Amino acid sequence: MPLPPADPHSSTDPHAPTAAPPRFPAGFLWGAATSAYQVEGATTEDGRTASIWDTFCRTPGKVFQGHSGELAVDHYHRFREDVRLMADLGLTAYRFSVSWPRVQPTGHGPGVQHGLDFYRRLADELLSAGITPVATLYHWDLPQELESAGGWPERATAERFAEYAGLVGEALGDRVGQWTTLNEPWCSAFLGYGSGVHAPGRTDPVAALRAAHHLNLGHGLAVSALRGVLPATARLSVSLNLHALRPLTPSEADRDAVRRIDAVGNRVFLGPMLEGAYPEDLLADTAHLTDWAFVRAGDPKEIHQPLDWLGVNYYTPTVVSATAEGAAPAREDGHGGGTASPWPGADRVGFHPAPGERTSMGWAVDPSGLHQLLTDLARSHPNLPLMVTENGAAYEDEPGADGTVDDPERAAYIHAHLAAVHRALTDGADVRGYFAWSLLDNFEWAYGYAKRFGLVHVDYPTQTRTPKTSAHWYARVARTDELHPPTAD
Ligand code: FCB
Repeated sequence: MPLPPADPHSSTDPHAPTAAPPRFPAGFLWGAATSAYQVEGATTEDGRTASIWDTFCRTPGKVFQGHSGELAVDHYHRFREDVRLMADLGLTAYRFSVSWPRVQPTGHGPGVQHGLDFYRRLADELLSAGITPVATLYHWDLPQELESAGGWPERATAERFAEYAGLVGEALGDRVGQWTTLNEPWCSAFLGYGSGVHAPGRTDPVAALRAAHHLNLGHGLAVSALRGVLPATARLSVSLNLHALRPLTPSEADRDAVRRIDAVGNRVFLGPMLEGAYPEDLLADTAHLTDWAFVRAGDPKEIHQPLDWLGVNYYTPTVVSATAEGAAPAREDGHGGGTASPWPGADRVGFHPAPGERTSMGWAVDPSGLHQLLTDLARSHPNLPLMVTENGAAYEDEPGADGTVDDPERAAYIHAHLAAVHRALTDGADVRGYFAWSLLDNFEWAYGYAKRFGLVHVDYPTQTRTPKTSAHWYARVARTDELHPPTAD
């Protein structure tokens, strides 16, 4: 029987015309991200004091197998090697965070030169490799001394944060041009003070709401402080883990659950930061807990500072429902269990696993959530450039017999999410860059070292770095600005 003619559209036909891969705009930043406590180690060197995460890690039962960031991946000593890795991978940007207790150990007064010099050297190394440094001022490592004085639920912490921002801005402003005030203040406020699964481990819904406000205020005050010390060319931002929400069913009750979580998960920050006001429905939903008297008259204006771009961190969508009378709400929100809820005023909202394939965090892989967030923001804030400041996946990567680390799932995850970013660009969203979480396998908070998110594998006992196959694929995308499929390599 004669063979049928080759199908010109079949992907198995080597002669088939292939569509050109999606192309990203010239100058699009191709980055990877880390944070100080997750990678630096050296927690007691050169004058650094304890942060709330050092304390939390020492508290029995809080972190998987008592792991801590004490050594982490030793980035404090190995940053030169790590910058070389980034350069080899063709990255054009690196998002790192500054450790507050390393540069201002007590949270008061002048900065510590040793600490500031570390970030100066890191920035210099990046610049000489042609990599844009993007500095985040707060990625969850509050100096313990400030927590002991009350932490984020207290207004003074916002004021301390602005002072710290000013001193870091002054020290690094000649070499760092891209700044982010806070990373994911939702996690700081609601996982730190609400459900208690993150440091400092408090479980008080009112403290969580107070913390959210003082993080907002800290952001606004820090932006003003930075504008005062940075050159006019500096670009300022904040990174939010916005929840891409879906109702479990189209019912009105489930759509109201979406509204409620949108208020306490997203608009609690977007409202004051981008519009200068807290959403009325959030105040109403939480009125039985607090009258929000901790918000002073001038605060919303202080928080509402012009931003140069907004950072969006996205991993998985959030599916919610209203809970029937008498039933216990489903709690699969992907935020790590805990008996207390991180959702003040939303006690009757149920959280459900999104459909589809899962990463080893148990998070569903669904890039449409990223497209949804980027295009919604582009519609609501058309003049605000966007950056995807975190996106990535944990899988159980192990080196093979030949020493290589093959992680096709991660490459597929990032490819699918970059395709979603490209669709958002085509649909008019002004997205300027993408940062894979993470450059290196590292300390994944309450999961310790049990979850590997890196493009680069780290063998913890020897600290050997091995770029995974996803890193080699991502390098090709970064070098060409073209979204080649991972399997073509
Ligand atoms: C984000 C954090 C980051 C990392 C990833 C997996 O919420 O900002 O530090 O833990 O999740």
